[in-house]
Amino acid sequence: MKPIILTGDRPTGPLHLGHYIGSLKNRVILQETHKQYLIIADAQAMTDNFKDPQMIRENILEVALDYLAVGIDPTLSTIFVQSMIPELFEATFYFLNLVTVARLERNPTVKSEIAQKNFEKNLPAGFLTYPVSQAADILCFHADLVPVGDDQNPMIEQTNEIAQRFNHLYQKEFFKKVKALGGHYGRLPGIDGKAKMSKSLGNSIQLSEPYEQIKKKVQKMYTDPHHLHIDDPGQVEGNVVFTFLDAFDPDAEEILRLKEHYRRGGLGDGVLKQRLTQVLEEVIAPIRARRSEFAKDKGEVLRLCRKGSEEARQVVATTVTEMKSIMGVGTF
Ligand code: TRP
Repeated sequence: MKPIILTGDRPTGPLHLGHYIGSLKNRVILQETHKQYLIIADAQAMTDNFKDPQMIRENILEVALDYLAVGIDPTLSTIFVQSMIPELFEATFYFLNLVTVARLERNPTVKSEIAQKNFEKNLPAGFLTYPVSQAADILCFHADLVPVGDDQNPMIEQTNEIAQRFNHLYQKEFFKKVKALGGHYGRLPGIDGKAKMSKSLGNSIQLSEPYEQIKKKVQKMYTDPHHLHIDDPGQVEGNVVFTFLDAFDPDAEEILRLKEHYRRGGLGDGVLKQRLTQVLEEVIAPIRARRSEFAKDKGEVLRLCRKGSEEARQVVATTVTEMKSIMGVGTF
């Protein structure tokens, strides 16, 4: 039997180049050798967007389209929608007892999201505990591998803790250890140089971005603020254009030469930005084209998600039944 992948995204907007580098590329490759389940985590998205379920509902299709556009093959991978599987939330409820509030408050990703969203005293319990629901997503499929961006590593760590605690408490090796798999290139910064590319920060390049927009966004990219004249020596470190070239330009040797030239002086930002625009267009153009093909029949894409959800639900329901029987609940 093939090893199992469970991974996915919150549907809060179309996916961007950060997702592509961090996880989508891996998922396209790994679907050949793994049984892959892709969760569109609409219920998780509710934990910080509970006032806007319509936005989330609309983005389910956007994320599904992005998956298909990058090359997720629905005959190899199963795309499903989290809210269609009530058993996931049943598992979550039991898992909530296997983790402390203090441990959840220490989760670095949750911690920085809480700070970013200014929840303060109004922090919804659902938001604080979403890592537990994510653990249920993963464990209910007995996943071996989770290809995600590195900001998700703390979730995998918590998943393994919950699994271990379950196995220990109920004296059965039921859940196995799961591994996170990061992208081949660390975390992609935003076009403004901020640590993380994110649609809500307004610093992202979408996978469906039109050419003119790519050009505009590359023009705006943060370079070296002290590199005022072409002849001035420039700095490569922290220069977002070089970061993106490192991540996307297939000609690594040429990038090395360009870096040397830039450091010496005599190489303008314009030339580099032109090169990057072309490099990104080469990545995005085929994705954009496939996306518009799939977008011609949105009903078919949604049907695919529904069918995937039915298939995924069977897997989850089996796990949850076994889980309850191991715990000795629901069978009085
Ligand atoms: N937390 C992920 C995100 O922010 C989405 C997600 C939900 C997920 N459940 C998952 C990712 C399980 C990997 C595995 O986009």
